[in-house]
Amino acid sequence: MMAIRVAAVPGAAPAVALPALVQEGGVGLPPTAYDLPEDARAEAMELLGDLDAEAGATCVLRRPLRTPGRLLLVHAGSGDEAGWRVAGAAVSRAFEDESSITVAMPADVSPAAVRGLAEGLSLAAYRFSMRDESAAEREVTVVVDDPARYAEALATALATADATRLARDLTNTPSSLKNPAWFVDQVVAAVDGRPGLSVTVREPEQLAAEGFGGILAVGGGSASPPRLVELSWRPERARTHVVLVGKGITFDTGGISIKPVDGMKLMRKDMGGAASIVAATLGAAALDLPVRVTALAPLAENLLSGSAFRPGDVVRHYGGLTSETTNSDAEGRLVVADALAYAVERLSPDLLVDLATLTGANAVALGKRTAALYSDSDELAADLIGAAAEAGEQAWRMPLAADYVEYLGSDVADLYSAPDRGAGSVTAALFLREFVGDRRERWVHVDMSAPSWADSADGVLSKGATGWGVRTLLRWLAALPAAPEDEKVGSGVLDGGE
Ligand code: BES
Ligand code: MN
Ligand code: ZN
Repeated sequence: MMAIRVAAVPGAAPAVALPALVQEGGVGLPPTAYDLPEDARAEAMELLGDLDAEAGATCVLRRPLRTPGRLLLVHAGSGDEAGWRVAGAAVSRAFEDESSITVAMPADVSPAAVRGLAEGLSLAAYRFSMRDESAAEREVTVVVDDPARYAEALATALATADATRLARDLTNTPSSLKNPAWFVDQVVAAVDGRPGLSVTVREPEQLAAEGFGGILAVGGGSASPPRLVELSWRPERARTHVVLVGKGITFDTGGISIKPVDGMKLMRKDMGGAASIVAATLGAAALDLPVRVTALAPLAENLLSGSAFRPGDVVRHYGGLTSETTNSDAEGRLVVADALAYAVERLSPDLLVDLATLTGANAVALGKRTAALYSDSDELAADLIGAAAEAGEQAWRMPLAADYVEYLGSDVADLYSAPDRGAGSVTAALFLREFVGDRRERWVHVDMSAPSWADSADGVLSKGATGWGVRTLLRWLAALPAAPEDEKVGSGVLDGGE
């Protein structure tokens, strides 16, 4: 664990990080709030030439028997939030074994810089372990002139990083522990009577009574039955109701259409969407964001057994649309479809966003770090892609290609679950769109299979689950308009104007 504070004086730290910034005429050392010993500053100046020319580059100077004993030069780019985020991650890694770190911030640095630095420090320090051990405590003192000026930026950064850590923890947890009931328990524990938050859970009997055929079909093969979690954040000043849906497959074997060894080994991460939307909703509450958020996590384990659903089965989804299962490994869209249909019919969302580790095709199209984003609304797509960029995550808009729509036609049902033609991530998105009724212009689907996992540590990402989407969603939610004092709750932000 890492404790980060802003203060006007350094910690009792032999380890000091000194940020370098791109200035006119090259990279330089700005004057700092922390009054660094003259010899240390002079040595740092000498080292500047050795520093690689990109944000996150570091250079360590060992100064035995002197203070500070370790001096780390770190490149913070041009000093924007992204540069500071990368610098924070680099400090965290370079000083991994230090229990106390001091960061000497430039005098009069912006609050956004402190936010970026703190997010980077905290996110890169994340580790997941199932061992019986407590992680070493690390303390970071960020030295600034006027600590009070940065309190809010620091609090925002820490709440954002905490929510991201929660999503990472949930996603990294092995599926021997993580079944649908376990996930529900984590959500209930996180809510724990916090004001404005509430949670309801549907078990199989109720899912059957209400017609959630997709969730029941996918969850039917497992000894751990499925659930639907509905987590709600309802602040008083909300003007917009956002419904977030997240795919929550606690393990994906592929079912009867079983996956090969390589394709299955990481499938404990197949609830990364559910983890991110739940964590973002809890984060919205922690930040007291004035927007109503309902998070829907359809949870199921896609296993194979005598009670598993089969290729060729016809599933009746919530609301009555039917799909012919072409491949039991295309299970995510079946559970997400139920949740989307339920949201549209019962929750009157102003805006509807789903996150899902839906297809391997995401990585084929866009590589390892970029989510595939789909929407019929240019504005909504741009807002979310912009929020992702600000947050340091990447999303790329993909087309809901009209010429693939006909591939969804089945002889015996309303839809094929997974057509055997077309681009996989696109046809999955087109399938989901059929379930959002008249909300097409208010819906965004994000296939985040690829960026939900990092094969090795990289900047703010630790090896394993990334918590992709938590930071993007929190930025986006924070930018939605709050209600003027005289406006009542529940009126739609998109209903006005035109
Ligand atoms: N959970 C997988 C998608 C996935 C693959 C996520 C790799 C992360 C990494 C999903 O349920 C799946 O199996 N999708 C199939 C769809 C196909 C059967 C139409 C896929 O992508 O192969
Ligand atoms: Mn699958
Ligand atoms: Zn899956």
